[in-house]
Amino acid sequence: MGEYHIKGGQRLSGQLSIYGAKNAVLPMLAAVVLNKGISVIHNCPRISDTFMVIKILKAIGADVKMEGTTITIDSTGADNYEVPEKYVREMRSSIIFLGSVLGRFGQVKISYPGGCELGARPIDLHLKGIRQLGANIVEEGGFIVAEAAKLKGARIDLDFPSVGATENIMLAAVLAEGRTIISNAAKEPEIVDMQNFLCAMGAKVSGAGKDTIVIDGVKNLHDVEYTVMPDRIVAGTYLTAAAITGGELLLTNVSPSHLHPITSKLAETGCEIKTEKTRVYLKAPKELKPIERLRTHPHPGFPTDMQPQLMALLSTAKGMSIVEETVFESRNKHISELIRMGANIVLLQDGMTSVVTGVKKLQGANVICRDLRGGAALILAGLAAEGKTVVTNSVFVERGYVDIEEDLRIIGADICYVK
Ligand code: EPZ
Repeated sequence: MGEYHIKGGQRLSGQLSIYGAKNAVLPMLAAVVLNKGISVIHNCPRISDTFMVIKILKAIGADVKMEGTTITIDSTGADNYEVPEKYVREMRSSIIFLGSVLGRFGQVKISYPGGCELGARPIDLHLKGIRQLGANIVEEGGFIVAEAAKLKGARIDLDFPSVGATENIMLAAVLAEGRTIISNAAKEPEIVDMQNFLCAMGAKVSGAGKDTIVIDGVKNLHDVEYTVMPDRIVAGTYLTAAAITGGELLLTNVSPSHLHPITSKLAETGCEIKTEKTRVYLKAPKELKPIERLRTHPHPGFPTDMQPQLMALLSTAKGMSIVEETVFESRNKHISELIRMGANIVLLQDGMTSVVTGVKKLQGANVICRDLRGGAALILAGLAAEGKTVVTNSVFVERGYVDIEEDLRIIGADICYVK
């Protein structure tokens, strides 16, 4: 388990290019199982989650190679419908293979992903939707065994716009008979990117980004070459790093529209934001303003994956902010560690609402990273703190950021990675 060693106080400034989105490429790498052929995906982030999915694809029997940020998959010979338990236990988002392996083979055996540091992470909406497509699903001994001679299109009303459930149902519906309608679907940009990828493979999918997605089943798919969208959470994290250090930053290779829910909140703290076609510029104010009420919400609301980072920022604003996490019941592991750094945060009894009163300066400390975005938040706090901060358990951060210490050093941070 590596550590990030940070000497705070450097004002960040400069330019960074943003790489491909983790939460877009993972479902695409599951989707390639549906195509008995060659899929080439460019701009894949070299993060541990990507390498884990490559292991799963190989276990299913696909040939996979990654050169630079391009992954080439030949799933012609894929013949194994059992997704190895050790991989699912290690990366819960591999549940996304449920829909695509079932769609390809008519059967799938996959371990229950279980909870994680963010909470219980149930998959009831995934299973309910796939049962509505005609699958017979047995849950026993910690495994999900699903089979369907032929999946049939259905109308599926999601109780909650779950990203994973929307993706799994889309994948299972692509080769099903007839039309599937998903209402109250997740509207995240990664869902739109996945729709574009599926259509590039010959699937018939429309409506992504809105409440209702329509999938008309096709007999088979064809070879595809595709480039993944940029990572809006990595972009938001870097913009927040510039904001918390009183700096300025130009990001290239981004989609400003994807970033709007984040940049609008950064603007509320007094940051100057300028956008062009594929670029976003931020200049921090002399003094950060608090945000009266920051609530996370499914897209196009403020993304839960940016909540810890904004909390670190608001810990140094002049005044009091209320931060409400409404998506994950336990996305609060970073709070105790920020308090160790001198932040004034009170987590209310509901475990999801925090009262953040800004302090003049955070103090460097040894802090423990317990999840991906919480770890990023602790790094940001270290950049702004007085003195040295050591963030342990880098393995969490490496799941979603490519060499974060190198990017931050490029724009002036005094940070190094220690194995
Ligand atoms: C995806 O997780 C992302 N992960 C998460 O990013 C992101 O935070 C989340 O969407 C919300 O945007 C990937 O794309 C790999 P959900 P997912 O299903 O699909 C409840 C990161 O940091 N729910 O939209 O698991 C669930 O408990 C990660 O990059 C059910 O109740 O999110 C949670 O409260 C973290 N039943 C809420 O919905 C279900 O069947 C949101 O979950 C499914 C979900």
